[in-house]
Amino acid sequence: MNKPTALITGASRGIGRELARTLVAQGWQVLAAVRDTAAAPPGTQAERVDMADPDSIAALARRLQAGNWRLDALVNNAGVYEAPARLVWDVNVRGPLLLTQALESLLAPGARVVMVGSGLGRMSAQPRKLAQRLCAPGLSLDDIARLAQEAPGGYGASKAAVTALARVYAARLKPRGILVNAISPGWVRTDMGGPGAPRSVQQGAASLLWGVNLPPDGPSGGVFEDGVAID
Ligand SMILES: NC(=O)c1ccc[n+]([C@@H]2O[C@H](COP(=O)([O-])OP(=O)(O)OC[C@H]3O[C@@H](n4cnc5c(N)ncnc54)[C@H](OP(=O)(O)O)[C@@H]3O)[C@@H](O)[C@H]2O)c1
Repeated sequence: MNKPTALITGASRGIGRELARTLVAQGWQVLAAVRDTAAAPPGTQAERVDMADPDSIAALARRLQAGNWRLDALVNNAGVYEAPARLVWDVNVRGPLLLTQALESLLAPGARVVMVGSGLGRMSAQPRKLAQRLCAPGLSLDDIARLAQEAPGGYGASKAAVTALARVYAARLKPRGILVNAISPGWVRTDMGGPGAPRSVQQGAASLLWGVNLPPDGPSGGVFEDGVAID
């Protein structure tokens, strides 16, 4: 039987690397989408991508299409925190939007898509105008792309947009049985989270793994941490 296949961005270190390690141990074929292919974890296939660069994302999608890859899971994990707003929105929002779009046709029926969110992206913590835009019923991918271009705010705002991105993709991919959720790993001891964070990379990766292993009747379009809905 063919192994299920997952593509994970930002698999070079931190939570993405731990998730890649776990999935390999569970028998998955893992495509590690990384900037530096030498940094891909053992047992994975390295695929070069710079999530801030639309051409690089398109090139990755072309390579996977040419290789007839079929993805059972896509984890948009790569992210930046302390960076200029332009880069934050490019990597955290535009990147996942473009990559998911470019790989849509490669997603297997019933695939799982995880958009890595954050507790700092809680809608209730965002400025009212931004939250209103992100929660608008008719919100489209084009609207989110425009928002990403404006880069209205920092890391938390960008992760709120990731939540909206998951909701829009969940509706778009529902006819194919694909489940899309925004999932927070919690505050985790990584380069990003710092040494004082309360959670281990294993705990952070487990929160994301829940979204990869959802049953077919699992939720879609929601925001979760450790399998529990958050706002
Ligand atoms: N740690 C936390 O407490 C926490 C809390 C909530 C949410 N999160 C989210 O969890 C995810 C993983 O965070 P982490 O803590 O594991 O962060 P990390 O240790 O800083 O790792 C970030 C990862 O993103 C990759 N990345 C950054 N910019 C990229 C780009 N332009 N193109 C491709 N890859 C890029 C990095 O690759 P390089 O090695 O090439 O730099 C690295 O693999 C992020 O989305 C983050 O926002 C983390």
